[in-house]
Amino acid sequence: MNTVIIVAAGKGKRMKSAINKQYLEINKKPILAITLEKFQNSNIDDIILVLNEKEVEYCKENVLGKYNFSKVKFIINGGKTRQESVYNGLKSVSKETLNILIHDGARPFITKEMINKAILMLDKYPAMVFGVPVKDTIKISNQDMYIDNTPERNKLWSIQTPQIFKYNLILRAYDNAYKENIEGTDDSSLVEKIGERVKIIEGSYNNIKITTPEDVKFAKILYED
Ligand code: CTP
Ligand code: MG
Repeated sequence: MNTVIIVAAGKGKRMKSAINKQYLEINKKPILAITLEKFQNSNIDDIILVLNEKEVEYCKENVLGKYNFSKVKFIINGGKTRQESVYNGLKSVSKETLNILIHDGARPFITKEMINKAILMLDKYPAMVFGVPVKDTIKISNQDMYIDNTPERNKLWSIQTPQIFKYNLILRAYDNAYKENIEGTDDSSLVEKIGERVKIIEGSYNNIKITTPEDVKFAKILYED
C-alpha cells in the first residue's frame, strides 16, 4: 500500500500573509487543494494530512469540504518543526503501508506522472528524492560572510519533495533521529545518518515550494502553463 504524508502545519512566516500560505489561492483554488488533487489522481492509496491544530476547521471548510478528496484518511496534528510534523504522520499511517511519500503541502506543481514513476522505482531504490541541478554557483561561507570555498557545481542538486521511501526504512531513520536528537532540514538527511544510500531522481524546475510572495507570482504563471 502506498501512503503519502502531506505536511501543511507550518506557520509560513516568510510569506508574511494573514492566512497560512497553503490556503492562498491560485486561480481561485487554495494551494493545498491543488497539491491534494495531484495525489488524489495518482496511484496513492492513502493521504495523511498533517495540519496545525488551530487550522483544522478552516481546512475542512475551505479545502476538504469543497472538493472530493476521498483518499484523505487521517488528519494529524503537526509539531513545532517540519521534522516533528512528519514524525507525527509516520506514526499514524495504516499498518498495511509499505511505501511512503513525504510531500510539502506548499508544492502544488508536483505531477501525478512523477508520483507514479517514483512509486514504481521503489522496487529498485528504497530511498529517493526528487532534485534538479542547481543553476547558480553555490558558496560555503564562514561566520563573517567571507567565502570559505566553492563546491563543484556539477555535483550540486537542489532537493525537493516528494521524498520516497520504504516505510520501515524511513521510520527507522526518524526513530534514530528522535533518539539521538538529530535535526535535519529534509527527510533524506535522516536516512543518510543511519548509513543508507539515497538516490536522486531528476525532478522538474516547476516543482517549486511556495515560500515567499514572489513565489505566488511565479505560481500563477506556472498554473496557466
Ligand atoms: N511544515 C509543517 N510543520 C512545521 C513546519 C513546516 O508541516 N512545523 C510544513 C509546511 O507547512 C510546508 C513544508 O513543511 O508545507 C515546508 O516548510 P516551509 O516551506 O518552511 O513552510 P513554513 O515552515 O510554513 O514556512 P516558514 O519557514 O516561512 O515559516
Ligand atoms: Mg519552515
